[in-house]
Amino acid sequence: MAAQHAHAVLVDPTHDEQSRQDYYMDIRRYLAAEVSPGNKVAYQAQVRPFFVKEHGREPKDRHEVRKVMTRNDYYQMYSAMQRHTQEMTWDSVVESVERDLPRLIENAKQVSGKIGGTLTIDPDFKVPGYLTFYDIHLQPGAYHASYAKDDVSAGALYDRGTYLYTLGNIGSKMDYLGRTLLAHYKKLYPNAQPNRILDMGCSVGQSTIAWAEAFPDTEIHAIDVGESLLRYAHARAEDLGHKIHFSQQNAENTNFDDGSFDVVMSHIIMHETSTKAVGKIFSESRRLLRDGGVMMHMDNPRLKELPPLESFLAEWEVYNNNERFGGTYREMDVAAEAVKVGFSAENARMDMVDTYMPGKVMNYGTKNFQFPACIAEK
Ligand SMILES: C[S@@+](CC[C@H](N)C(=O)[O-])C[C@H]1O[C@@H](n2cnc3c(N)ncnc32)[C@H](O)[C@@H]1O
Repeated sequence: MAAQHAHAVLVDPTHDEQSRQDYYMDIRRYLAAEVSPGNKVAYQAQVRPFFVKEHGREPKDRHEVRKVMTRNDYYQMYSAMQRHTQEMTWDSVVESVERDLPRLIENAKQVSGKIGGTLTIDPDFKVPGYLTFYDIHLQPGAYHASYAKDDVSAGALYDRGTYLYTLGNIGSKMDYLGRTLLAHYKKLYPNAQPNRILDMGCSVGQSTIAWAEAFPDTEIHAIDVGESLLRYAHARAEDLGHKIHFSQQNAENTNFDDGSFDVVMSHIIMHETSTKAVGKIFSESRRLLRDGGVMMHMDNPRLKELPPLESFLAEWEVYNNNERFGGTYREMDVAAEAVKVGFSAENARMDMVDTYMPGKVMNYGTKNFQFPACIAEK
């Protein structure tokens, strides 16, 4: 696996911390490549015949598979290991971040302003409840926690933790999702030179920088809810040489002017919100677009289109990793949601976006999946 791209605020594990992080990543890789496929064997050999005998038919969807599969010993062993290694992966990074935090805070101060990007924190900001009710992905403190003066710990934890969690498969700069959506944008609009772009739910700005790299003359804004996360994102972008304007804002209701963006987009934020929030974010996206501008909200692979067992396995995160809205969002008719907020039916659709890095094995051993993106032109 390629080493994570170094920058001024990336946590620097000691030898022992690194070894612990490698250990959990190796177990996760082993789980994805060697243990997860065993679920199919257990399903075919034990679970499915049991279901067919009882009901006289095949399970019709992931919900029916869930009822029987969660009682299977092999699946229970796999799921418990998956959950345990997820908790331990975060734990191993928390250890490094807590030790390294004074240096990271100092480095963040040093690089701030190096390139000319900005950071705007709102001291009265209220984080939406769907992000605070539980720790999404089991990340301690979730996206919004802030512990120290000038804190960057949420970003430091997220950057290193998700790199390990995704087994390094989303690129050394973790910009894989950004590159995936960007490639689709370029396919749709080969000659476009957008003046202003907004990335909603940017976390540490890893996808935003893919766009900044592609469009160095474009004014790029990125918003998220966490002060510490955004301070980290700003320092990371500045040190990597990308001028991005970060601000602490709720994507449901921002302070940008009407019609002020050519592209309003997000990369895998919707499945962590709520039904109400999706409508509000789509509506806000439309308000922010100039006529002819495009909204692009890309999220995790659909569940409906997968066979019942794969769909059940892909939903593991919803039940065990605090991504509670994931099951609902991944079945939503997103084009219809876009039409509800005022986009015309001819200009709103869901595209299946090809992965930027074909062949990579993601969690659950899934290869080459496509990402659904709600595309709507104003
Ligand atoms: C899975 S992360 C996505 C990370 C990133 N976009 C990427 O490309 O990997 C989801 C992010 O969306 C943010 N988010 C969720 N709801 C939001 C909202 N209403 N306003 C702003 N950010 C939001 C979360 O705080 C979190 O940082």
